[in-house]
Amino acid sequence: MGDRLVSPNVSEEEQIIEGSLRPHRLSEYIGQEKIKDNLSILLEAARRRNEPVDHVLLYGPPGLGKTTLCNIIATEMGVNLRTTSGPAIEHAGDLASILTSLQPGEVLFIDEIHRLARPVEERLYSAMEDFAIDVMIGKGPSARSLRLSLPPFTVVGATTRVGSLTAPLRDRFGAIYRMEYYNIDALRQIVARSAHILKVPSQEDGIEEIAGRARGTPRIVNRLLKRVRDYAQVRADGVITREVAQAALQAMEVDEIGLDQTDRHMLLTIIQKFNGGPVGLDTLAASTSEDTETIEDVYEPYLLQLGFIARTPRGRIAMRSAYEHLGIIPPGEEGGPTLWTTT
Ligand code: ADE
Repeated sequence: MGDRLVSPNVSEEEQIIEGSLRPHRLSEYIGQEKIKDNLSILLEAARRRNEPVDHVLLYGPPGLGKTTLCNIIATEMGVNLRTTSGPAIEHAGDLASILTSLQPGEVLFIDEIHRLARPVEERLYSAMEDFAIDVMIGKGPSARSLRLSLPPFTVVGATTRVGSLTAPLRDRFGAIYRMEYYNIDALRQIVARSAHILKVPSQEDGIEEIAGRARGTPRIVNRLLKRVRDYAQVRADGVITREVAQAALQAMEVDEIGLDQTDRHMLLTIIQKFNGGPVGLDTLAASTSEDTETIEDVYEPYLLQLGFIARTPRGRIAMRSAYEHLGIIPPGEEGGPTLWTTT
């Protein structure tokens, strides 16, 4: 699962490469124009007032650059970044020790913030709102609570599921930004930039081919670039041309719009096993051997965006465009000898 092209998981090696490709300043960041505009005002205003940046929540599908933006916020403000995640902070005490060790103005990045344990989350409220935290001193009948004040700091929270955040936590963020899938032009610029950094010789139409199959996602575009580079070196003269990119991507079973085997398997399952749906998430997960969270966070958002599936109260249904993409005649349409003939 770790080396799947659309996998949300990032291996250690990939983190290092992602790090080298990652833009460090807002001016180098490609795409997400609305967020960049708003963020630059937020940062500039904080700088002029000599205050830490207001708490920022970034949400959207994996691989769109939430971590990168958080790094940029810290760099642009000239402060340190502390990184943690919802599941890593197990106890309220863990949170207290992180918070009390922060320096003024520092950025605390909490990835997967929707997975914070409830007692931890509740401690975070006063920390974010009043820059203070209540800690328990002692045990048993003599235990008492002590309020510690904290230096002003910035929480940057990231989540793939903003709907799972409680209202009190969401309300403590001064800025909430929704990350969008990147358009083809932005992806083309990202591939060109990454190819330049990695010193991979490439032609414009080769770059375009990769950009078009990356499901709107920079992390995927960079993965595809690396695999196409391998292919170009082993099977061609090292240059990424359109032909090389097409052959490499075909070998990886990534189709013209970026769907991989799992996407197609999921669509075929809904269409063929469940007559086009509706099919519940759990059933779909069991039939495709994926877990429900991966389906919801990784596969579904892009298929929804393409209009290939829809979510209804009774489950997922396959839309006409999914049938068309897979070359299957939709039920009730004329011209096919049977409902499920592929063309
Ligand atoms: N590399 C990955 N994401 C990027 C982005 N949004 N801008 C520039 N380079 C990137």
